[in-house]
Amino acid sequence: MEAYKIQQHKYDVIVVGAGGAGLRATFGLAEKGLKAACITKVFPTRSHTVAAQGGIAAALGNMGEDDWRFHFYDTIKGSDWLGDQDAIEYMCREAIPSILELEHYGVPFSRTDDGRIYQRPFGGMTTHYGKGTAQRTCAAADRTGHAILHTLYQQALAHDATFFVEYFAIDLIFDDEGVCRGVLALDMNEGTLHFFRGQAVVLATGGYGRAYFSATSAHTCTGDGGGMVLRAGLALQDMEFVQFHPTGIYGAGCLITEGVRGEGGYLTNSKGERFMERYAPSAKDLASRDVVSRAITVEIREGRGVGEHKDHVHLNLMHLGAEVIHERLPGIAESARIFAGVDVAKEPIPVLPTVHYNMGGIPTNYHGEVVQKKGDNVDAVVPGLFAIGEAACVSVHGANRLGSNSLLDLVVFGRAVSHRCAELVKPGAAHKDLPASVLDKALARFDGLRNANGSTPTAQIRMDMQRTMQKDAAVFRTGETLKEGKQKISAVYDSFKDVKVSDRSMVWNSDLIETLELSNLLAQAVATMHSAEQRPESRGAHAREDFPERDDHDWMKHTLVKVDDNGNSSFDFRPVHMYTLTDEVEVVPPKKRVY
Ligand code: FUM
Repeated sequence: MEAYKIQQHKYDVIVVGAGGAGLRATFGLAEKGLKAACITKVFPTRSHTVAAQGGIAAALGNMGEDDWRFHFYDTIKGSDWLGDQDAIEYMCREAIPSILELEHYGVPFSRTDDGRIYQRPFGGMTTHYGKGTAQRTCAAADRTGHAILHTLYQQALAHDATFFVEYFAIDLIFDDEGVCRGVLALDMNEGTLHFFRGQAVVLATGGYGRAYFSATSAHTCTGDGGGMVLRAGLALQDMEFVQFHPTGIYGAGCLITEGVRGEGGYLTNSKGERFMERYAPSAKDLASRDVVSRAITVEIREGRGVGEHKDHVHLNLMHLGAEVIHERLPGIAESARIFAGVDVAKEPIPVLPTVHYNMGGIPTNYHGEVVQKKGDNVDAVVPGLFAIGEAACVSVHGANRLGSNSLLDLVVFGRAVSHRCAELVKPGAAHKDLPASVLDKALARFDGLRNANGSTPTAQIRMDMQRTMQKDAAVFRTGETLKEGKQKISAVYDSFKDVKVSDRSMVWNSDLIETLELSNLLAQAVATMHSAEQRPESRGAHAREDFPERDDHDWMKHTLVKVDDNGNSSFDFRPVHMYTLTDEVEVVPPKKRVY
């Protein structure tokens, strides 16, 4: 093995990832006097949060009656009773101060006539526990993620946080007592290796949408945190729950925000029917995403799709008028023109359910501390390790996330982690001495991949993985497709042993980086397919045609999955938290989920 020179850096806290969650954590830590470093594989304002369109949920009540308890109820129902109710209470209550803080930090939200933050309706968001429609989603036109990301980056710079930009996190480093002590990373500009020491490491690395062929996720969404966690021998949670956004642009996969339907847009099939009326008589086009994605899939299957191949549907917003489109939805008008050649004022947008979000991820409590099951303790904290944002599974989204609860999750739990680290980490505390051998395993794996000289190109393995996931871990699943998918994804995993890295240079555009990313994606693709195969019920985004009902008796529990170096999965479970943090809300017991 090559003798790599390692540069060492010492900080109080290391944050990996500079999307909404990573930036909110980074600047919160710096604000509290902790020496914080954020290492990120892309320039912060290019992180995938920049693509979030429709908005961020909080029961501000600017556009009519609202209450965070309604939001709490909607989120539990949206999660199909797999969300942890303590964490959901925390998120929905803290939404209000978190958004007001964002406003004060400078996020340029759209405004009502009297100057308050503009809020639009979104799917599954109601008042009075399902009776009315809530206008809860705070928006900056249809570029809310962009507005938030830029503001948070400015705040992080203003608070003197240190950024290491275009650094790829290779592996987490633990001491012999199982405490996370830092991260081994690669500077992709210089081609040098770095050991970032921290009293705490916060993973804010985003989702793994690129395990699929067609996703709204950026190409950078390769689940690097989840990959590192699996390699550390820890479990991920609820990986079978993958959200398909109902309205990705047909053929291109780019997101068309649910805000379009919030502003009054609607879906039609080849007969011009507003078909959502049949699937969700009350909420119609603003039903929860899993419901709308399944409805579109059924329409297409039953021959009512549009276009030459009858394989998509139409999203209509012509009737909204130029003024609303220009003021509230300028970004999607541009995307539709560029990616579908459509003038939204005159024609409908061709759309198709597209992979959008991972409900599963690194299990944490509502402080952002990573938890694992150890003996009788189902929520044992992994010392020194935190996870937030889409990388994490708190679990506030359970089996299905409501639109606009994702930006909220980033901000609320990015903030929560900074509070928790301020309680646990003493600024400037000495770092534990570690033996030089502490990096050996991570370096050996890195060197092995760098010199991988098999016969299958990285790009070929990636394509095989993406096609398998797209076909067999889809909107609808059956025992048969999942069994086949499980065999196929395991075969793809095995083929990685024969990977050929044609460009070994340690810089950002090399085949080596894509191979490191692929290894993270592959392990999570296996975790997803294998987890889906073992859950014989339908819940939220996991729709089994052979088990169409939810099974609360046997399956109202979180899946914990480990994937070893040979791609073998093993399972355990932990109960859903059916308790609240305060008596300001009551536990919502499971009931039939209709919209
Ligand atoms: O449709 C959207 O604007 C997406 C929002 C979200 O995923 O939260």
